Amino acid sequence: MSRQHLTPLFTGVRNHAEKQPIQFHIPGHKQGKGMDPEFKEFIGENALSIDLINIEPLDDLHHPHGIIKEAQELAAEAFGADYTFFSVQGTSGAIMTMIMSVCGPGDKIIVPRNVHKSIMSAIIFSGATPIFIHPEIDPELGISHGITTESVERALSSHPDAKGLLVINPTYFGVAGNLKKIVEIAHSYNVPVLVDEAHGVHIHFHEQLPISAMQAGADMAATSVHKLGGSMTQSSILNVKEGLVSPKRVQSIISMLTTTSTSYLLLSSLDVARKQLATKGERLISEVIDLAESARYRINEIDGLACIGKEILGTKATFDLDPTKLIITVKELGINGHEVEIWLRENYSIEVEMSDLYNILCIVTIGDTQEKMDILIEALTRLAAEHASFTEKSQISSVYVPDIPTLALSPRDAFYAETEVVPFAESAGRIIAEFIMVYPPGIPILIPGEIVTEDNLSYIQENVKSGLPVQGPEDETFRTLLVIKEHKAIQ
Ligand SMILES: Cc1ncc(COP(=O)(O)O)c(C=O)c1O
Repeated sequence: MSRQHLTPLFTGVRNHAEKQPIQFHIPGHKQGKGMDPEFKEFIGENALSIDLINIEPLDDLHHPHGIIKEAQELAAEAFGADYTFFSVQGTSGAIMTMIMSVCGPGDKIIVPRNVHKSIMSAIIFSGATPIFIHPEIDPELGISHGITTESVERALSSHPDAKGLLVINPTYFGVAGNLKKIVEIAHSYNVPVLVDEAHGVHIHFHEQLPISAMQAGADMAATSVHKLGGSMTQSSILNVKEGLVSPKRVQSIISMLTTTSTSYLLLSSLDVARKQLATKGERLISEVIDLAESARYRINEIDGLACIGKEILGTKATFDLDPTKLIITVKELGINGHEVEIWLRENYSIEVEMSDLYNILCIVTIGDTQEKMDILIEALTRLAAEHASFTEKSQISSVYVPDIPTLALSPRDAFYAETEVVPFAESAGRIIAEFIMVYPPGIPILIPGEIVTEDNLSYIQENVKSGLPVQGPEDETFRTLLVIKEHKAIQ
């Protein structure tokens, strides 16, 4: 039996709980006995019995030397990393750690503009200066793909002093760039590559999927085990290859950003998810690919719907595709993605991963079955039939994505600058001091320091009007925005 069948952390925690120790330590609910009975019954005694704290036999995520260390070492072996750090603060925590491990105030970091908000938060916290690369926009789907090897080369030759290059791979929609080549280019400048692998925990475990960050030789990867790898929500990992980054520095930064009350439920779930991926991942993921590919084929048979596949590959930014993501384009039905999301919820109790103006995204994972896929196809068939009359007259012909705004101030300077509130409609031309994004996917439309354009304002309004979850500003009604105060000359 390979070492990967072992679960030192889960087994250790479970054995400890089974001994029923008399606990005079937190958590004060003491295995659920001090908890509201209704919740306790619902959650179950087993879960509560391992809701423990870092007492000595259970090791300490901040200074691992026992069962957590063993579990992290097994994860590193499974993911092809030199070191793996467990995160109980999601991939956001792992991402902030990556950036703050390589960047300090004034350091440059090269990032695509379509990054998750945790990356911009880390840039603000660290005081780093972002050098933005424009991602390739798909004009058919209205979504951003990754970055090209050419743009990486251009960014690095203009900024060879950058302290890191951040790459999103694969994207939320499952599209991967030529990561191996990107890593080669960055390493030729001695610049470490940090990968946001939030949507790619499974790719390491199957040959038919894009190569993982560690396989491509990247220096760090923040990998959401909880999203697609079978662990509990909020649990994630940070994989590190030694060389251009210091694992000791990574350990101290992740510790600075992490709660001292680390959840053993989350940590144990990482241990067992790694075991499942390492020992059965290939077989399970083959089944997922089959389920998704057959659904893709059936969706493409439905009039008015399209579900992209490998045919989109071949542009400079679309090097490979994770077929387990179903991006279903609904624009030919004359309704937007959000309306489809609501229709599926109300008519079939189906919850999609996300929707935008033109698409819905359904993710297929090791938790899915043929029966569930059949219900999705049945629902989409009815949806298309009910909207068939629209297909001729009112389909949305072209997608609209705003231009990337100009950055006038570093995000940190803008965030901490003196600000004032202005009416939304009068904010064009001003420097914004807050984030505005649609969540999910959490990619900012505006970040602090950027100059607001009319184009941004209409895009925000269009998203709000369509009912999409636009978030970020202090004024949730979007009547006003927070901008940098202008000091006019005294007359
Ligand atoms: C691309 C990307 N990066 C990072 C994250 C953050 O992950 P988490 O929610 O685990 O903090 C997300 C979450 O949606 C994401 O989509």
